[in-house]
Amino acid sequence: MKIITIIGSGLIGRSWAMVFASGGYSVKIHDNQPGQAAIALTEIKKQMMELQEVGMLRGQLSATQQLALLSSHDDLQQALQGAFFVQECVFENLKVKQNLFRNLERLVGEDVILSSSTSYLVPSAVFSSVQNRSRCLVSHPVNPPYYVKLVELVPHPDTLAATVDKTHALLTEVGQVPVRLRKEIDGFALNRVQAAIIVESWRLVQDGIISVQDIDLVMSEGLGMRYAFIGPMETIHLNAPEGLADYMRRYGDGVRRVASSFGPVPDFFAEDAKRIVSEMCQLIPNDERHLSARRERRDQLLMGLARLKKDH
Ligand SMILES: NC(=O)c1ccc[n+]([C@@H]2O[C@H](COP(=O)([O-])OP(=O)(O)OC[C@H]3O[C@@H](n4cnc5c(N)ncnc54)[C@H](O)[C@@H]3O)[C@@H](O)[C@H]2O)c1
Ligand SMILES: *[C@@H]1O[C@H](CO)[C@@H](O)[C@H](O)[C@H]1NC(C)=O
Repeated sequence: MKIITIIGSGLIGRSWAMVFASGGYSVKIHDNQPGQAAIALTEIKKQMMELQEVGMLRGQLSATQQLALLSSHDDLQQALQGAFFVQECVFENLKVKQNLFRNLERLVGEDVILSSSTSYLVPSAVFSSVQNRSRCLVSHPVNPPYYVKLVELVPHPDTLAATVDKTHALLTEVGQVPVRLRKEIDGFALNRVQAAIIVESWRLVQDGIISVQDIDLVMSEGLGMRYAFIGPMETIHLNAPEGLADYMRRYGDGVRRVASSFGPVPDFFAEDAKRIVSEMCQLIPNDERHLSARRERRDQLLMGLARLKKDH
């Protein structure tokens, strides 16, 4: 029996557990809040039944079969028993993660892969208290990992290539789409690109060029239409008769000119930032009722998109 341990049973830990169970792995869930992992199991059960109902349960096994692979453990050592892979999903706090990994190193064998879900902490920081970092790496998922399959694999400078290769193979097997970063960098790849998009969108609204509503449409009805299927590099490769080099001959000057005109990073808390916040809140009030309705809508739409992508 191939066992994977999930540490931290919040939003991301639950999703990882579902992804690995869908691939037929035995998943042991641990949380340091007593009873929390058991609550997570109940929540996962509900979600799996709903997914099965609408035909969106991942994997070859039924919901009942997948649920039988899951267990919850308040005791860390018990949760680690027999595992070959550990996915950490605790609070995004450097000290908490460092302490946890220091403990983990003592509790598992040397060939067990230690993988962190961190969004914004680099591996050299997360694993600084580990002695032998050759089997440590970051596997950064995108929320919600059940529908958005990308995982960024980010090595520590000491990480063995075999660690990254094994993780890549495991994640591919369970239906995620892993990508490799060759070395660590703040924000990894996804959040760097996202920061560029957020910052330029913010500047365009702040400078009175476009409304909040319309800049979102630029993405959702414009760029986003392609980006769900092809990335920015293929997009430009296809957008000139003779491909990428041709695109740069035709449009390279324009791209350079525009990229050189980007302004400084905005102050998100300045006086004029309040106007942007209130413009957003007029579109979608920031109370629980409106926000959860929109989150529900987002997840439904993502589920539909995942279904569409499955056939391509
Ligand atoms: N939420 C996202 O959109 C998202 C996306 C990608 C990556 N991540 C990353 O995933 C990780 C988890 O995020 P989340 O949103 O699931 O957080 P969360 O707050 O929902 O869950 C964290 C869980 O970890 C438990 N925990 C805290 N310290 C622990 C410890 N020492 N041992 C065991 N359990 C512990 C908590 O009790 C809680 O149940 C973070 O590093 C985050 O950056 C989050
Ligand atoms: C470190 O761990 C690797 C396995 O990931 C092992 O092959 C190696 O011998 C270990 N090195 C030391 C110094 O313990």
